[in-house]
This record gives sequence, structure tokens and C-alpha cells, in this order.
Amino acid sequence: MELNILIICYLIGSVTFIIGLKMLSHPESARKGNLIAAAGMAVSILGTIFLYEEEGLRLGNYVWIFSALIIGTILGTMAAKRVMMTAMPEMVSLFNGMGGACAALISIVEFDHLSHLVQAGATADRGILLIIFAGLIIGTISFAGSMVAWGKLNGKIKDFSFNGQHIVNLVIFGVIIALSAYLIISLDTAASTLFYVIFALSIVYGLFFVFPIGGADMPVVISLLNSFTGVAAAFGGFLYDNPVMLTGGILVGSAGTILTILMCKAMNRPLSNVLIGSFGGASAGSAGKEQGAYKEISISDSAVVMSYAKRVMIVPGYGLAVAQAQHVCHELEKLLSDKGVEVNYAIHPVAGRMPGHMNVLLAEADVDYARLLEMEQANEEFPMTDVVLILGANDVVNPAAKTDPGSPIYGMPVLDVELSKLVIINKRSMNPGYAGIENELFFQPKSSMLFGDAKSVLQQLVTEIKTL
Ligand code: TAP
Repeated sequence: MELNILIICYLIGSVTFIIGLKMLSHPESARKGNLIAAAGMAVSILGTIFLYEEEGLRLGNYVWIFSALIIGTILGTMAAKRVMMTAMPEMVSLFNGMGGACAALISIVEFDHLSHLVQAGATADRGILLIIFAGLIIGTISFAGSMVAWGKLNGKIKDFSFNGQHIVNLVIFGVIIALSAYLIISLDTAASTLFYVIFALSIVYGLFFVFPIGGADMPVVISLLNSFTGVAAAFGGFLYDNPVMLTGGILVGSAGTILTILMCKAMNRPLSNVLIGSFGGASAGSAGKEQGAYKEISISDSAVVMSYAKRVMIVPGYGLAVAQAQHVCHELEKLLSDKGVEVNYAIHPVAGRMPGHMNVLLAEADVDYARLLEMEQANEEFPMTDVVLILGANDVVNPAAKTDPGSPIYGMPVLDVELSKLVIINKRSMNPGYAGIENELFFQPKSSMLFGDAKSVLQQLVTEIKTL
């Protein structure tokens, strides 16, 4: 009876994960989807703690289990409440690393468990050993790599590489596979030293795998490592014959893989280029090219041209998130709409620093989702647009992606803002964006710079428009 209830708990967990994931694909339902999946996870965890039985024995260890659960819940809640939107990829990386570490710990515990069983006369199973090693290697690589990604995103770790690093990585990986194959084939569960050598080499491989990858590519790497963690957790599901762990792991693994592919597509770069190239480091491409002079526009002139325009398109970018200017941006949009101006937002798929960054940011400010135009749709609208207001975006509006084959972002689809009648660019200086390259858009005849922090500039624009 209790076993049946436990299976129902697992079923609830699996179904809520799928429903939650589906709901995450839309900003309006994402929050609810997250809560539904979390509730399903809670049902599965509590079911396991209280109902799981092996040979008539319950899990026990309740003080340990609940102490860990309480500490984890407090730390996780505090971290999630305090984190700034722009530091979200860092936190995702840290949490993902913890998932990888858990998968690796499961393998360490289960290898030890298996060794004891074999010492007591049982025979080892190659299938189980294969699962243990796969979980150990993938989970450890994901843990070590995620820690480096976290350090890179918060600026504590710099890009690091040496000549022939990719060959060294390949050799380390080859040794890991060879040692694991030896232990699996020989069924040698007493060779715990070799087991820990594999563990140590996996840590080194994880570090070396992420060290040379350029800072701007960290979100792609995090998504890839996230899929590794999912796969490692799925191996845990096989090991424990636990369907909810298996479903969760497979969902994370496949979602992470799809996201990685989508991000690479949006940047028009193959994954191999992300993993081997060093994008987002030093200035490159057209950085040194003489671009000529740029013009500036005042707050009052900007307010006038936008108020008397028929169509205005706002292009949000990373700077809008840094300035936390989404609410005042929405206020500006409402003010212009009340004056009869048609206002929309052009959303580039990799604007900001994480997938869906701009959608989440604007949803937080209650911007109507119907106003958010995807890149293809926005590009069709630009020729009919009177004023484009760029708020802290740079790389995603850089025409070099279309015109300069030497540029590191060449081939990345960008927003064709220059097709509109007037482009106002708000940023604090002439500094480059994340790819570290200059932007010729700023020097074009239709373009005018409106310098300042996005929040303060938007507040001034709102005040000015109210007086018109
Ligand atoms: P960026 O190219 O990074 O440019 C952001 C601009 O915002 C900077 O030039 C900066 O100029 C300005 N800025 C910073 N703080 C500001 C503030 N408080 N007020 C006003 N402006 C401010 O941003 P983007 O156009 O959104 O492009 C995103 C980049 O990240 C792309 O290269 C993309 O490939 C990369 N990337 C994104 C993702 C995802 S999934 N989103 C994943 C991987 C890589 P100042 O310093 O002069 O103010």
C-alpha cells in the first residue's frame, strides 16, 4: 500500500516537472510553473523520506536529513531573494555545480557500498559500475566546470589557457575513460585508489575545460554544464531505480541541450567555436577602426521627437538590467501610448546575459507581453518606425555583424535599427559592449547618443514628456 503511495508521489513529481517546464516557456506562466514543479519535487522528496523501504527498513537518519534540508532551504531562499537580476547566471552556475556535486557524491557513496557488498560475498554488476562511473565523471566535470564559470562571471577568475591545452584535455579525458573501462571490465571494486584518481582527474578536466572559454560565452557553457548535471542525475535515477530522478534528470539534460543549441544559433556560432574560441575577452575586429564623430541629443529634444512620433521602438539591452530601469521604462511607454504613440519593444534573443533576460525584466515591470516583438518581427517593423530608443544595448544592434567579416560577432543576427528614421542610443559612455568591439551604429548620420545611466535618463525623459 505504502509502496503504491510512493509510486503515486513519484508520478506526481514527474508530471509536475513536465507541466512546470512547459509553463516556464512563457513569462506570464513561468512563476506558477516554477512553483508547481517545486511542489512536485517536495512531494517526491517527502514521499522518499517517509515511505521508501528496502527489506522492511525505512530510511531513518531523520535528524541528518531534516538538518540538511533546513540548512539548504534557508541558504537557497536567502541567495535567491538577495541575488540581483544581472547576477542570476552566476547563481544558476553555483546551483548547477551543487547538482553535479550531488550526482558525484551518489556515485562515491554507491561505489563504497558496492565494495562492501562484494567483500561480503556478493558479485559486482558491470551495468551498475558503468552507471556509477558515468555519474561520477559527468557530475564531477559539471561541478568543477560550474565553479570556474561562477568565478568567471563574478570576475574572480580570469580566462586562462596554455599552448596545447586542448591536447592535454583530450589526454586527461582519455585516461579517465581508460581507467574507468579497466575497473568496469575487471569488476575490481576493491581498487578505491584508482576510483579516487578518476574522481581527481575529472575535477582537473572540469577546470581545464572551462578555464580557456571566453567570458562572454559563459551563459552557453553554463547551459551545457546544466545538461551534464541533468544526465548525471538521470544516472542516479537508474542506480536507485527511481523514476522521478530519472525524469527530472532527462528533462534537465534535454532542456539544457536544446538551450545550448538555441543560444549558439542566436549568436550564429557553432558550439565548437564557443568551446575553443575566446569570445568576449580582449577587443578585436573593428575595435581599432577610426569611426569618425558621433552626435549627442538632449533630454528635451529626445522627449519632443518621441512625443510627436507615430511609432517608437524601444530596444532593451544589458544596460537596462544593470540600471534596474525596467519600471521607469514601462512608465515612459505608458506616457507615450497615452499621447497616441504606438510603442513596442524589440527583443533580441541574446540581449542581456541570460536566455529570456529581457522578457523576464520587462515582465517584472508588468509590460504587456503583446508589445514584445521578437527579432524577426521587429526587423520588419523598423522601416516603419520613426524613433528607436536603445537602452543599454550594444552588440545586439551592431551592424558589424552584417558588414564586417573580421568582426567576432560577424554572422550573428542583429536588430536592423538603422532602417528606422532616427536612432537614439542611451548608454553611459562610448565603451564597448560584452564582445569588446566598437559599434559603427553610434557614428551613423541617423544616430544620436543620449549619455547617462538608463534609469536616470528615463526618469528625466518621463518628467520632460509630462510637461509637453
Ligand atoms: P552589451 O553588448 O553587453 O552592451 C551593454 C551596454 O550597456 C554597454 O555597452 C554599456 O555601455 C551599457 N550600459 C551598462 N550599464 C548601463 C547603465 N547603467 N545605463 C545605461 N547603459 C548601460 O549588451 P547587449 O546588446 O544586451 O548584448 C548582449 C551580449 O551578451 C551579446 O554580445 C551576447 O552575445 C552576449 N551573450 C548573451 C547571452 C544571453 S543568453 N543573453 C548569452 C551569451 C552571450 P556603457 O558602459 O557605455 O554604459
